[in-house]
Amino acid sequence: MRSTSNPDQPVIRIRDVTKIYEMGAGTIQVRALDGVSIDIHDGEYVAIMGASGSGKSTLMNIIGCLDVPSEGTYHIDGQAVEAMSNDRLADIRSRKVGFVFQTHNLLPRLTALANVELPMMYGHWPNRRDRAENALTLVGLGDRTHHRPTELSGGQQQRVGIARALVKEPSVLLADEPTGNLDTSNTAEILNIISDLNHENGITVIVVTHERDVAARADRVITLSDGQVISDEIRDSPARGGNPKDKGRPHRRIPISHRTASPLPFGGRGLG
Ligand SMILES: Nc1ncnc2c1ncn2[C@@H]1O[C@H](COP(=O)(O)OP(=O)(O)O)[C@@H](O)[C@H]1O
Ligand SMILES: [Mg+2]
Repeated sequence: MRSTSNPDQPVIRIRDVTKIYEMGAGTIQVRALDGVSIDIHDGEYVAIMGASGSGKSTLMNIIGCLDVPSEGTYHIDGQAVEAMSNDRLADIRSRKVGFVFQTHNLLPRLTALANVELPMMYGHWPNRRDRAENALTLVGLGDRTHHRPTELSGGQQQRVGIARALVKEPSVLLADEPTGNLDTSNTAEILNIISDLNHENGITVIVVTHERDVAARADRVITLSDGQVISDEIRDSPARGGNPKDKGRPHRRIPISHRTASPLPFGGRGLG
C-alpha cells in the first residue's frame, strides 16, 4: 500500500487548494482553505496547528479523501484525486489512509476485537481476526481484546481507535486532535504509540493539534491561519531521536518489538 514508484515523489501533494463551503443555498460562502500548497513525503511526522476555524479539519478531510477541493489539485501517491470516481475515492480512502479522531467512535456493544475487525467487513480481507489481534497487540492491548469500550480506560479506548485505523496497513495515519479528550498520562501513552508507528514502522503521520507538547513529537509543524499556511517548519527535534541525515530516507520496517509477540505484526507482511 506504500508508494512503490519514485521515492522522491511526495505521498501527499497539494497545490493551490481552496475549499469553499456554500451555505444558505449559496448566499454565504465560507473560504475554509485559501490557496494551500503542501508536499508531504513518505515517513514524515507532521503536526498541523492553528486556531479554531483556521481550516485544519477541512485540510485533513481533503488529505483523507473524505472531501474534495473546490479549486486546486491533490495527488496521493502520484494519483490525481480530482479525476477519481466516487468508487475509486472510497477505495483510496479505505486502503491508503487510517483515521483517528478525537472521539474514537467505537461501537459500545462490540468488543475491542470486533471494533477493530469492522473496517475489514467490506472487501476481501483474509485473516481478519489475526490482523485485528495483531493491531491490538501493536498498541499494547493484546490482553484486552474481549473487553467492550466501557470496560476500557479513555486512553485504552483511543488505542483501540488507533488499532482500527491501522488494521488495513495504511501508508498514512491521519489523526485529528487524537488526545483532545485525554488526560496527561493517557496523552503521553497515545503519543508514544504514534511516535513508534512513525519511527519503527515508517508510517507517515499527520496530526492536527493545538497542543505544543503534541506538536513537539513531530519533525515538521505546519501552521494554518484563515485557511492559509502561515508557517511550515522542519523541527530540529532531539525529542524525535532520529538521525537528521535519515530524513527522507525510507524508515526501517521493523515491528514494535516490545509491544508485539509476533516478529511480523500483520500476517507476515509487516506494517505498511
Ligand atoms: N461543512 C461546513 N459547512 C460550512 N462551513 C464549514 C464547514 N466545515 C467547516 N466550515 C467552516 O470552515 C472554517 C474552517 O473549519 P475547520 O476546518 O473545521 O477548522 P478547524 O478544524 O481548524 O477548527 C470555519 O470557519 C468553519 O466554520
Ligand atoms: Mg477541527
